[in-house]
Amino acid sequence: MSQDSAAAPTDIFTDNERWGDLADWHNTALELHSQGGLHRIEREGFDPFWAVIDHAAVLDIERQPELFTNGPEPVLANQWAISARQLEIKTLIHMDAPQHHLYRHLTSDWFKPASMRRLNDRLDELSREAVAKLETMGGTCDFATDISGPYPLQVILRILGLPESDYPRMLMLTQQLFGQEDPDMQRGEISPEMQAQIIGDFYNYFSTITAERRATPTDDLASLIANGLIDGDAMPDLETMGYYVIVATAGHDTTSSAMAGGLQALADNSDQLAKLQAHPELLNNAVEEMIRWTAPVRHFMRTAQADTEVLGHTIAKGDWLYLSYKAANIDPKVFTDPLRFNIERPNADRQISFGYGVHFCLGAQLARNELRSLFSHLVPRLASLELAGDPTTMKTTFVGGHKTLPIRYTLRF
Ligand code: HEM
Repeated sequence: MSQDSAAAPTDIFTDNERWGDLADWHNTALELHSQGGLHRIEREGFDPFWAVIDHAAVLDIERQPELFTNGPEPVLANQWAISARQLEIKTLIHMDAPQHHLYRHLTSDWFKPASMRRLNDRLDELSREAVAKLETMGGTCDFATDISGPYPLQVILRILGLPESDYPRMLMLTQQLFGQEDPDMQRGEISPEMQAQIIGDFYNYFSTITAERRATPTDDLASLIANGLIDGDAMPDLETMGYYVIVATAGHDTTSSAMAGGLQALADNSDQLAKLQAHPELLNNAVEEMIRWTAPVRHFMRTAQADTEVLGHTIAKGDWLYLSYKAANIDPKVFTDPLRFNIERPNADRQISFGYGVHFCLGAQLARNELRSLFSHLVPRLASLELAGDPTTMKTTFVGGHKTLPIRYTLRF
């Protein structure tokens, strides 16, 4: 265990600027791994917390959801943000047993692999459109804004049964909610009023959808949410809104980031691209490696409900723990040569980017299918691929990846 000090490597957990340089972030996390799997972070403006970077310890904590709860603060926030918050939004991520189980159960079948297969035609259609768009763009584009940004949001619109014309509104709202720390993603200065306004926008928008789906139910996820019963009663408004919000936001920037990060990894590692082209059967493993490599959800928090121990250190009741999926995915005890992007990595599927246990990502299968579809259409067509400038990444400590990814490419016919 290391103690935090001024300008320490452990800034990588609290300082959103450190996320602007992912290579530096990775190197620093690797250095922290050599010092231990658990780090006490005491940073001005933040309640103290423990950063858990050890792969096995993250899994162990997630295996005990009653001892380590998501509530009351499942995402790292500074003291100012916590005290200034005006409107609590209640999503699956904010819930613990027994409420969490009841709410998750409402949609868990809908997200199962067999059920997700019915979206495959739509995913292939979007993948063909993405390649067609690249054909028309003359060999250069910003992959993050032109391809990987729009694709998952189109999928969200489809699963919620929303019209394509709602795309711009959803784009602004999902990026506002998840990109708030990054200066380029804000509508202006972050203020409690702004957060309340974003959530208010969502509230009005989804109130209309709820009324429509209650009047005329369809087979989309919005209908399931609008008409969902919890213990025989309709869901309260805040929880209904929370359900739309978690589906819309959790499925967008996460998947976009994995796609863009995956493409950059192929551009940076031309041997891996060539290998994937020669061996398309490696695609599923390549997608696992992309998801390990990108870990778009950088952390979630847990709160200890009793005195306990983690990696031999005493954790007191009420202590806050930061589960670093990003750092756990490069734990050298689990992944050999962890900073190497290797589509043949034998244990790539031990990545924990989707979390674990009772909160395991509901959209994991869908996200995998989206990446498989896109890369299965794109990779065989790429005659060349390289970066056309320096990519930029979101400066946020929660969910994020590329803001821009300029590429130069040629396509074969
Ligand atoms: C590469 C893409 C994605 C990544 C890396 C990701 C990651 C995560 C993580 C780390 C969690 C929390 C797990 C935990 O606490 O153990 C989560 C939860 C969740 N994700 Fe994803 N996700 C992705 C895509 C999606 C998609 C496409 C959807 C749906 C459209 C989705 C919906 C959800 C929901 C509803 C939850 C809350 C589950 C719960 O609390 O019970 N995610 N995701």
